Amino acid sequence: MEFKIVQNSEILSVNDVCDILTIGVFEGEKTGIEKIDNLVFNEDKFEGKFNKTYLLPCCCDILPAKKVLVVGLGKKEDLDGQKIREAVVKAIKKTIQIKSEYVAFKFPDGYEDVIAESCYIGDYSFDKYKSEKAHHIKKVCLQGDEAKVKKGQIFGEAMQLTRDLANEPSEYATPSKLAEVADGLGLDVKIYDRAECEKMGMGAFLAVARGSLQEPKFIHLTYSCPNPKKKVAIIGKGLCFDSGGMNLKPAASMMTMRDDMSGAACVLGVMSKIKEFHPNVEVHGIIAACENMIGPKAYRQGDILTAKNGKTIEIDNTDAEGRVTMADALCYACELGVDEVIDIATLTGACMVALGTCASGIMGNDKELISNIIKTGNNSGERYWEMPMFEDYFTSLKSEIADMKNSGARWGGASAAGLFLKNFVTDNVKWAHLDIAGTAFLEKPQKEFIKGATGVGVRTLLNYIIN
Ligand code: BES
Ligand code: MN
Ligand code: ZN
Repeated sequence: MEFKIVQNSEILSVNDVCDILTIGVFEGEKTGIEKIDNLVFNEDKFEGKFNKTYLLPCCCDILPAKKVLVVGLGKKEDLDGQKIREAVVKAIKKTIQIKSEYVAFKFPDGYEDVIAESCYIGDYSFDKYKSEKAHHIKKVCLQGDEAKVKKGQIFGEAMQLTRDLANEPSEYATPSKLAEVADGLGLDVKIYDRAECEKMGMGAFLAVARGSLQEPKFIHLTYSCPNPKKKVAIIGKGLCFDSGGMNLKPAASMMTMRDDMSGAACVLGVMSKIKEFHPNVEVHGIIAACENMIGPKAYRQGDILTAKNGKTIEIDNTDAEGRVTMADALCYACELGVDEVIDIATLTGACMVALGTCASGIMGNDKELISNIIKTGNNSGERYWEMPMFEDYFTSLKSEIADMKNSGARWGGASAAGLFLKNFVTDNVKWAHLDIAGTAFLEKPQKEFIKGATGVGVRTLLNYIIN
């Protein structure tokens, strides 16, 4: 997607004719272009209500555009990034629908990064396996600051990579494939195979991985800079397929379990773009990638595993595998001497039951880190809701023969999983855990997103790191 940036209000007089000029109007206001206003507002009583659009066929005589699309932005005082996002996606969808390629935006000032990012969100489709390919936007013209537009583009591209990886079938997006993608990002990368993980004492991760023919890969990416002001690790759950293991999932629940590496895909999306922003932060991207399968080698109920930090885990349910793989990844991250660890995982159905598909769960051991991530998320178009970390939730994970069980009672499952993970985080490391089970993959379209992977976490983590 090519971007052309013009100075304020030049957009109405640029010399190349676009296919669709999109004009955002607030409720009760008009475009200020007499011919359009007479038609749209006086004759047809368009009101500028949020998410309503009006397409004018031809305006070539007064504007450098083949068509004009008026988009309602709602009440001026209610405007925020999310409204812009949805309005832009709506305009992009309209543009695609009529098979146009060049769209220009005359929208309120100050949102050019959001507009650019939203062009990618609206233009996204996963058509790799379709004989008939989707129509795409080729060129966008907008007014504003070049650096902000660039930022929006980079965010859009990062989300695209994440969404593609999470949408791919497990047959393609294997642990080895994730390692290959990581290897191609142009960062320092270390990929540990099964034997090396064994040497490092990753008894938890390897037990989950054992039932699959796919080789597990432990991926460690590093973005470094001279004199970093802090060191952060981001860890993504990388279950390339979660069948549930011996506690096999019912077929319907397995249907979307190729998305169980959405956390890993998010980490790869974030790491793929960090260097473009040159943040003064050292960032480690960590993924323990494997599949949770059944078979003669699979780990079983009642097995006792030893994680990298020496703690033992009694397997109560092989379908609570994400936390088991994350245990070793958390230990590894804490050993790097980082100040903060943020993990992102499609961890519990319970979190999805609690928050649905419109907010991710957040927990951790540091109030400030949690509230910073929530705030960053709000400014990035991603919502988080804090779940409690009362020690009581750990009661059901108490084991008589090991340090803990990997699952227990049904109720409060998101918090119990959080408390499980806490056992593998060193006390002096600030830690936040993002549960994206409900938000990573949509079974039907929602707001600016189509069905499938959303790339959740990418914008929050990128913004958190670069600010
Ligand atoms: N990957 C699932 C969680 C999940 C469920 C993600 C639905 C997205 C949508 C996870 O590995 C899992 O199976 N969790 C179990 C834990 C339980 C056995 C304690 C769950 O949530 O049912
Ligand atoms: Mn599972
Ligand atoms: Zn899982």
